[in-house]
Amino acid sequence: AEKGSESEWVVMATGRSPTNIAVIKYWGKRDEDLILPINDSISLTLDPLHLSATTTAAVSPTFSRDRMWLNGKEIPLSGERYQKCLREIRKRANEVSDEKKRIKIKKEDWDRLHVHISSYNNFPTAAGLASSAAGFACLVFTLAKLMNVKEDLGQISSIARQGSGSACRSLFGGFVKWTMGNNADGSDSLAIQLADEEHWTDLVVIIAVVSSKQKETSSTSGMRETVQTSALIKHRAETVVPARVLKMEEAIANRDFASFAKLACADSNQFHAVCLDTSPPIFYMNDTSHRIINLVEKWNHSEGTPQVAYTFDAGPNAVLISPNRKTAALLMQRLLYQFPPNQESDLTSFVVGDKSILQDAGVTSMKDIENLEPPPEIKDKVPHQRFTGDVSYFICTRVGSGPKVLTDETLALLDPVTGLPK
Ligand code: DP6
Repeated sequence: AEKGSESEWVVMATGRSPTNIAVIKYWGKRDEDLILPINDSISLTLDPLHLSATTTAAVSPTFSRDRMWLNGKEIPLSGERYQKCLREIRKRANEVSDEKKRIKIKKEDWDRLHVHISSYNNFPTAAGLASSAAGFACLVFTLAKLMNVKEDLGQISSIARQGSGSACRSLFGGFVKWTMGNNADGSDSLAIQLADEEHWTDLVVIIAVVSSKQKETSSTSGMRETVQTSALIKHRAETVVPARVLKMEEAIANRDFASFAKLACADSNQFHAVCLDTSPPIFYMNDTSHRIINLVEKWNHSEGTPQVAYTFDAGPNAVLISPNRKTAALLMQRLLYQFPPNQESDLTSFVVGDKSILQDAGVTSMKDIENLEPPPEIKDKVPHQRFTGDVSYFICTRVGSGPKVLTDETLALLDPVTGLPK
């Protein structure tokens, strides 16, 4: 690298990547090192406005080692998954030149240049929402921009996959499939977009962040134990999922909500069933999760056709998907009836994201929540209880777009002169 008279320069790139929620779950690896799954999976990308990671990556000849900060705190980059992502992206780096700043980084320079990375999530990491998916997708996407990597998003997704499996699905917006692939080197285990975020815009996503003090088994060790001990996982991966993936692709293509909901709920329940079939059994859902499932099932049953789909990952939080705003408002009324906030909460922090759903539900104050009537499907079935404080808060969101470069320099997380966190 060279620059006119000065030798001190910093080149940066900033990117933002969404989270995703699987409706056909990834659970189980056939190769632990390369992170190759035992089945395909399908996800919805969630609106980055509400749930995303932002990452700035910088390079400078003054940096003496690779460093990373997560939500402002320095974290070690020594982990094998970080190392793999860095190595794979560096391999594909190309020449970068900035005529104006008179900077030229040659292809071969990347091997000895070090990077600084700063990443932050716009949602609480502690909430147990898939932060690793957005995080690794963003890390790989942003480094690829910084290093002028020319590979397409599919190839980039297969690098993100080696950070965290589910991260590969966050390289695209809309509806995404992770194809398990056949190659031993994992080169064909990557994400493809089934439909973009404009395909099915009516869907409304409501996430119930469920209060829990319990430390959950990590996905990585949980799925390892399932593969080692569950007899059901084999049947799931070989027979159930392949058929479901085809049906789910069809449901998405046709915007067939009834079919979409049935498949998503069944697949979430089967994922938790294989967790229970693991020895020792793994419990990700808690009583609140089960109550949410009951609420949805009762309502769906009473209407005779699915009003809402639910899906749960490796934790107690519920992700609820409704076909339109009208149903989402009715769902919100039911959720707020059964899971009202604690006295200390206020409405603005209890329902976050797209708050307009609250207006549709006719709820504009805490008093409105108190005064909600029980929904008809449980009205005559006494006793019906209200579980105050069992849901910490709700996030209202929608299907959203894939990773983007942020060109506005004020959004960068590293100082353009020092290359250290702002
Ligand atoms: C339940 O991608 O977190 O969310 O590949 O070991 O990092 P690793 O696991 P991870 O597993 C996600 C599992 C899941 C289902 C899904 O997202 O498909």
